[in-house]
Formats: sequence, structure tokens, C-alpha cells
Amino acid sequence: MTGTSCDCKLDSGTEVGFFNGTCSGQIAAQPEVGFSGLCLQDGPVGVRATDFASVFPAGVNAASTFDRDLIRARGLAMGEEFRGKGANIALGPMMNPYRAIQGGRSWEGFGGDPYLAGEAAYETIKGLQTPGKGVQAVAKHFIANEQERNRTTISSNVNDRTLHEVYLAPFLRSIQADVASVMCSYNQINGSWGCQNSALLNGVLKTELGFQGFVMSDWQAHMSGVGGALAGLDMSMPGEILIGMTTSYWGYNLTESVRNGSVPESRVDDMATRILGAHYLLEQEEGFPETNYNTFDLLDPLTNSHVNVQADHYKLIRKIGSASIVLLKNDNEALPLKSSLRDIALIGNGACPPQKGPNGFTYGGGVDGHLSMGWGSGTGAFPYLVSPLEAIQQRARENATTVNWVCDNWDNDTIATVATGPQAALVFISSDSGEEIAVVDGNYGDRNNISAWINGDVMVEAVASLNENTIVIVNSVGPILMPWINHPNITAVVWAGLLGQEAGNSLTDVLYGDYNPSGRLPYTIAKNWDDYAVPYINFQTTLEPAHPQDDYTEELLVDYRWFHANNITALYPFGFGLSYTAFEYSDLEVVEAAVSKRHLVEEGLHKRANTTEVGSSVAEWLHETRWSVEFDVTNTGSVNGCDVPLMFVTFPEAAGEPPRVLRGFERINLDPGATTRVSLPLSIYSLSIWDVVSQRWVKPEGEFEIIIAKHADDTQLTATL
Ligand code: NOJ
Repeated sequence: MTGTSCDCKLDSGTEVGFFNGTCSGQIAAQPEVGFSGLCLQDGPVGVRATDFASVFPAGVNAASTFDRDLIRARGLAMGEEFRGKGANIALGPMMNPYRAIQGGRSWEGFGGDPYLAGEAAYETIKGLQTPGKGVQAVAKHFIANEQERNRTTISSNVNDRTLHEVYLAPFLRSIQADVASVMCSYNQINGSWGCQNSALLNGVLKTELGFQGFVMSDWQAHMSGVGGALAGLDMSMPGEILIGMTTSYWGYNLTESVRNGSVPESRVDDMATRILGAHYLLEQEEGFPETNYNTFDLLDPLTNSHVNVQADHYKLIRKIGSASIVLLKNDNEALPLKSSLRDIALIGNGACPPQKGPNGFTYGGGVDGHLSMGWGSGTGAFPYLVSPLEAIQQRARENATTVNWVCDNWDNDTIATVATGPQAALVFISSDSGEEIAVVDGNYGDRNNISAWINGDVMVEAVASLNENTIVIVNSVGPILMPWINHPNITAVVWAGLLGQEAGNSLTDVLYGDYNPSGRLPYTIAKNWDDYAVPYINFQTTLEPAHPQDDYTEELLVDYRWFHANNITALYPFGFGLSYTAFEYSDLEVVEAAVSKRHLVEEGLHKRANTTEVGSSVAEWLHETRWSVEFDVTNTGSVNGCDVPLMFVTFPEAAGEPPRVLRGFERINLDPGATTRVSLPLSIYSLSIWDVVSQRWVKPEGEFEIIIAKHADDTQLTATL
């Protein structure tokens, strides 16, 4: 479909063409049937490529808060901004996990664990789709799209159980959150393209998960006319086969496919029903703001009215940023910084404003200043960016602390001068990655290595050799190696991820103790690169074979599960994070919940069913609370703070599960001396495996161990069930 002249009934879901609209993607209005069209806009950190919009902390930082309320609030604030700009559909959240540790876009998503990613996806979507305030959300990329290299040719080969238990988990939660749309991915899955994989789109997504919204293709991931339509694709993005061409697999070709009997008309009706259903679900048919910006020409006076949608979201951005920061090391109470500090040094370009300004790189990212998002379509346009240098200087003025700095990582002489003498030397290092649409410092999306960029390690060692209170601040898209971690002069390490526009303020609040750190690692930081389950992306430079085969041989052993199964000690395990106070856990009890008779009957029917019923994997009985795991948490330290107790489950051995898997968490705030009782729900789904023979969730027979822990390598309390 191109333009407005087509028959809506027969051309339900083809976009107008990449450069023919004002949004990342656009469905033309059909005034004759009262349809005002759809504006689709990237992306997961806010409204991309416009003005007067906010840049939020990245998905991975939302995950590291482990705070459902904050994640939902982030979604709502973003939803309000998309709506204010007249964008009907926000192209996020992205939920592909960290698998290959070099993977370029993992920072857009929610970390390395399927349960955590599922909770973050659920809350983000609930926030984005808040009735009357938000917009349609898109769960992307479906599925097994975990690296950038060869993303449009590669086949991710994943077995059924792994697919269900690991990669599908956040999509299942997205559907439980009523997500409007799912974006199918560029890659093949088990040899069949993501956007024409009938087993996954018709089978898993629309049948097993009962998804009632629409499937849109990633941009140019639409691979064939009839094949895509029959496989369950509902919307073709960006419309043309290749950007800039005028031909489409659909448009008039879809009409023709119906006329010649290749595609049933009912399938096209189904596409239209799904797309309009989502439009009505979000009540976008009336009173929705008109699109008031032009992504392709921000200076065009006719299409830009420069609507300011930022409200006071900067406050939330600052708070989420602080809540997401993970304190990894803190010896000799190096942190929080004392207001009585005489002098302080800020070292490294990560402390400083980017020389080209916050939006100096077309696709985001960049290596010439503070890093607070990766690059690619998952970026936003900064309205401003508070660097650590600016924020810390404000404190210095209040505290009468002298600040010196050096922003050039290669200027060894100045680094040595500045690092010598001050009571604290803060070294800022970073590591960037992004989408394959841009190359940054020789990195084609995925990271060439997982070390700090731009001389980072050398700089840290140099400063640590001169200053006995060296504090390292890491802004990174994912894990990095920290060869200097045990240096006795490195007193603290602060893991700050990608904080968005308020970066310096969020960080300063934590450094000075205005915000007690409570972020937890959303992935494992290894001692060695090779310790990871998938240390390297699948790297092929030749054109042969045309379709590189990426076998997910680690199966269920993603992230910490691999380390446990192979007895590899992490440098910092998944879930790790220190606080300025201390917490203790006690009195664990597993309480059985009341179950309705109807659900017990449904459970019995499910066990006997011999076909996959529509929605069987999201059935209420499967997900309702069957047990409450209850325990006390006490703040035994001297200041208020938040804690995040984690619940892991060890399955009966015969189930063939990893040694332990995350099944619950809660972030709680406690005053010193206070105790609260935490209750974490468990469902049949929480204790089930995907049985590939019967094609259903099955709770294995036998004893389960419930573990309450501070991080993946820790055990505080245990109970059996
Ligand atoms: C391709 C990316 O993979 C996807 O995430 C994005 O939404 C589209 N391009 C549109 O920019």
C-alpha cells in the first residue's frame, strides 16, 4: 500500500514508504472509513529524532533498578511523550537478552535473565499503554535476535525448550500486559525468517500465547508477499521491499494475492482487525494528538510545531538513574564522598561533556565524552545532557571542594598531575555499542571486545598508582573486563550503565549519599572474557555460507546459569550490588494459597489436552499465585535504604534445569532498624518446564528448593516445596 488510494480492507497493513511520512514508520490515513492513520516512532529510550523530548535511562538501567514501580513510571512518562508528539505507536520495549556478550543492542533490553526481562517488559508496557495517557507499545524483536553482525542473513538455531523457557519469557509477559504489537526480527529462526515463520507467529505467538494484537515486520524484514501473510505477519514496515524502492511485497500485490486465491480474504480481514483492535484498545480513534514533528526534517516549518512534551520527567529520569546505579566495590567507606573533601580529581572523557555536543553522532553513541546511551535506532535526541563534571562541580561549590579535571584519556602528563594529591580521584571509563547501521570507532554495532574503550584500563592503572583513593565509574553498554579490580588503591567501583539526560545528577546523588545505592547487576560480570557462555558473536565475513548458522548450544544456561553449571566464579554475579546500609533476612515460610475450583479443573484439563489450545500458555490457572514465599527483611545498618531480595528456585534434578533460576524479587525501602515481611508469589508456571513432547508447561514431580539470596552466588535462606 502506498499513499491513501488503496482499499483498506484488502491492504490493511502496508506502510507508506520510509521517506514518505514524518515518523519512523507510518500507515496512511483512510478518511473514507474514519481512520486517521498511524505514526510509528522509535524507540526504547524516548521519542527518537525529534525535539523537546526526554532521553530516559536505557532499558538495561531500568532493569538494574529491579523496581517494578519505577519501571512502570518510566513507561508511563515515555508514553505521555509519544502521545504528546502524536506518535500512536512507540517502537519498544526491546527485550532480546544479553546472550553473546559482544551483542551490540543488548543495552536496549533488560539484562541477561528471562524472568527479570519479563517483569521489566511487563511493567514498561503497562506504563506505555496507560489508558488515556499512553500509546501502543511494541514487543521487539521476535525472536532470537541477539547480535548485529549478519543480522539479516543469520539463522539462530534454538531448540524448543530453550526458546520457550529463555527467549519467549519476556514476550509471554508482554502479552499478559496486553501489548498492542510484536515486531518480528530480521534473522531466521531454525532456518525460517522471523517475519514468515508460521510455527512461531501463527503457532507460538498467536495460538499458544493467544496474542490478539498485530505483528509488524522490522524495517525490511518482510521477506515475501504470500508467505508473510500466511505465516501471520500483519503489517509490513516500512512498506517498500527495500528502503527507497517503490515496490512492496504487499500493497497492490496483497490485493492481487487475494484476488488470485493465494491469500484468503479472511487473513487480510484478520490483519486489519488486529491493527484496528490495538488502535481502539488505546482509544486512539478520537482526541489523539496529530503528529506534530518530522523525523526526517526537524527544521521544516510546515511539519514541525515543536511541541514540548518533557513535562517534569527530568525528575523521574534522575531518580531512575540513581536507582539503577550499582555499587560494586566500596572499601574503607570511600563512598559516600564526604562534604568535607578538600579536593577531588575527575579523570577521563567519561566525566566530561561530549565535544560534539550531546547529539554529535547522528545515530547516538560516541566516544568523546560522557556516555549515556548506545547508538542506533534505540536512541533519543538529548534536549541536554548533564555530565558528571557539571553536576559534581555544583556540589563542589556547596562544599568548598576544589575540583580539577582532565578530559583527554591520552594526555598522560595531565592525568598524572591531576591524579597526584587530591583526597579522591574519580576515573571515568566507558564501553559503547549499538546497531549495525553505524560504525563507531571500528565497531560495527557489536563490540569488538569487552574492555574499556579509549585507553580506559591504562588510565585506571595510572591513576591508581598515584592516588590511594581511586574511585572508578563505569558507563557501559554491558559487562567489561576489570583487570585492575584488586588494586589496593582502587577503593570503590560504581557501575553506572547508561543513565540518560540527567546522568551527572543521578551519579552525583549516589556518590554523595543523597541516594543510597540499591541497583543490582542485571547480568554477570566475568573475570575472563572466555568465562561467558557465549563470549563471542557468530562472526563471519565471507558471503559463504549465505546464511551463517548460530547454534544456541548453551541452551538454558544463559548468564549466571552457565557459571553455576560449569563451576566458574564470577567477578560480580548477577544481582550483586552494595548499599550504604546492611540488610538481614529471617523467618522464611512457604504458604500455600487458596485456589479456585475452576482453576483446578482447568489444570486437570490441560494435563489431558492433546492439542495446544489458544492461549494455553497464558491461562490464568497457570499463572495465578499458588504459593507465597514469605520472609522478613531488616535494615541492620545506620541509614535508610532499599534492598532487593532475590528468589531462586532449584528444580528436582530429573527436570534437567540449570542449578538455580530466578523466579522472584522485590525492591523494598527500610529505615534503620525497621523490619518488613516480604511476600513473593510462585505459580505453577514458575515451577514448570516446557515439555517438548506434550507441548505444554509441566511441573516436574519432586522437591523444589526455594532460595532467598542477595545475588546469584549467594544463599541466605532456604525452604523446600
Ligand atoms: C530496525 C530496528 O531493528 C528496529 O528496532 C527499529 O524499530 C526499526 N529499525 C525502525 O527504526
